[in-house]
Amino acid sequence: MKCELAPSILSCDPGRYREAVAELLAAGVERVHFDVMDGQFVPPITFGAGLVRSLRDLGDAVFEAHLMTLTPESHFDAFLEAGCQSIIFHQEATPHAHRLCQRLRERGIRAGVALNPSTPVDAILEVSDVLDLALVMTVNPGWGGQEFLRACLRKVETIRRECPDLDIEVDGGIDPLTLGLAKAAGANVFVAGSFLASCPTLTSGVEQLRAECD
Ligand code: DX5
Ligand code: ZN
Repeated sequence: MKCELAPSILSCDPGRYREAVAELLAAGVERVHFDVMDGQFVPPITFGAGLVRSLRDLGDAVFEAHLMTLTPESHFDAFLEAGCQSIIFHQEATPHAHRLCQRLRERGIRAGVALNPSTPVDAILEVSDVLDLALVMTVNPGWGGQEFLRACLRKVETIRRECPDLDIEVDGGIDPLTLGLAKAAGANVFVAGSFLASCPTLTSGVEQLRAECD
């Protein structure tokens, strides 16, 4: 499957989000990953659809919203109207993941479901008929810069075995080494936040990750 990079701006300076996204797009990333936290599903609060809308003019890469929120469906319209082509919500935030995937697809949005490290993989398999992307968290959601949880790769292996054509994204603790591990397990979309922010430039960080992708 085609490998794609989906950098998160979470670890970038909030005063420089625009410059960061412009640089990432110039570096050729396929997606930009927006970590939306509501102070409820996870303790921190980040940003909302207004930020996505304000950056949409920068280019055509896929903008994906990772909704770490309660009642994710109450935010679908705002992120759709802001220009997201893909919305990922957490399985743990709703008893109706299947219906919410249907709703996203009806609106022409690619539907993604995220799993916390403690959530069993079955949750993904049960909605695979209406799913475009499975996001396997490889840290506990809420903060950048945490250590990659290798045990979560078992879920990636299971999903890839059951769903050969599904986009499988990993999120948390991704650097060139862990990207390689996740790719070997079957993932094909890679979020990276703090690794990129720690590189001399975002562009050089993207190049290092790309080298592992190809
Ligand atoms: C964590 C977020 C991640 C995070 C990734 O809750 O979903 O997208 O920003 O950051 P790193 O790469 O630092 O783990
Ligand atoms: Zn994320």
